[in-house]
Amino acid sequence: MKTYFTLNNGIKIPSLGFGTWKTPDGETAIESIKKAVEIGYKHIDAAAIYANEEGVGAGIKACGIERKDLFITSKLWNAERGYESTLKAFEKTLEDLQLDYLDLYLIHWPAAAHQFENWQEINAETWRAMEKLHNEGKIKSLGVSNFMPHHLEPLMKTAKIQPSINQIEYHPGFTQPDCVKFCTDNNIQVEGWSPLGRGEVLDNEMLKNIAEKYNKSVAQVCIRWALQNNVIPLPKSVTPHRIEENFNVFDFEISEADMIAIDAMENIGASGLTPDTVEF
Ligand code: A2P
Repeated sequence: MKTYFTLNNGIKIPSLGFGTWKTPDGETAIESIKKAVEIGYKHIDAAAIYANEEGVGAGIKACGIERKDLFITSKLWNAERGYESTLKAFEKTLEDLQLDYLDLYLIHWPAAAHQFENWQEINAETWRAMEKLHNEGKIKSLGVSNFMPHHLEPLMKTAKIQPSINQIEYHPGFTQPDCVKFCTDNNIQVEGWSPLGRGEVLDNEMLKNIAEKYNKSVAQVCIRWALQNNVIPLPKSVTPHRIEENFNVFDFEISEADMIAIDAMENIGASGLTPDTVEF
């Protein structure tokens, strides 16, 4: 299993990232980032709306690893879409994280038809601002999150720089196969948010049986399964032994038969958040 994937712009991205959604700001954020980096995570997934970028940034600063050896992502929140607001929101994120560039910046959710008549134009303008920041060297790679193929298609038509990443909900019981296929066909790397289904898939009997076979936890099976499907999992934890457990997935391999069985699992653990219906 590769510890890096290569993006469509040639940049390498660590194949396992550390999630920070719902991590409380302050000491908890600082300590969990320090712990994660100490364990070996090089890739940290942040977002302005998580309201913890100051703590995450302080953790990055205190972790003792050189900036160039880390891969840091953040995301533009929905309220900040559009050219000028994107430029401003990006500066605020950079300041909160105490960084002078990001490895990856994502549009957190697409502007979509249920909320905006001109949703395609809004996404195009947001993207144009991100391209400017990219051209100034402030963002190394650009991407989106929660974009379905029908949101990606118009964006890709107006984009001068094609998206390198699409971060979507992805875990056993919720695999969004059409979206993953579209991304793979278009050379867009998929990242998976809530790879443990926010903890909700961990007591599934079939996953428990599979995990037992490999002498691993269900969480480790979920993470490894995503990796073997070429999806970058972003497990979140603030618990030191879980942070370690979730990184300890490079020493076993899930068999083809078990991969197929997990791929075919019935729908469980879905957040219910879909880009064409969300209220935010
Ligand atoms: P905590 O942060 O308190 O350790 P996801 O990444 O799918 O959104 O899941 C995150 C949730 O799963 C959090 O509630 C986190 O709790 C919990 N979690 C993370 N890793 C593990 C693990 N290895 N075993 C059990 N629960 C976990």
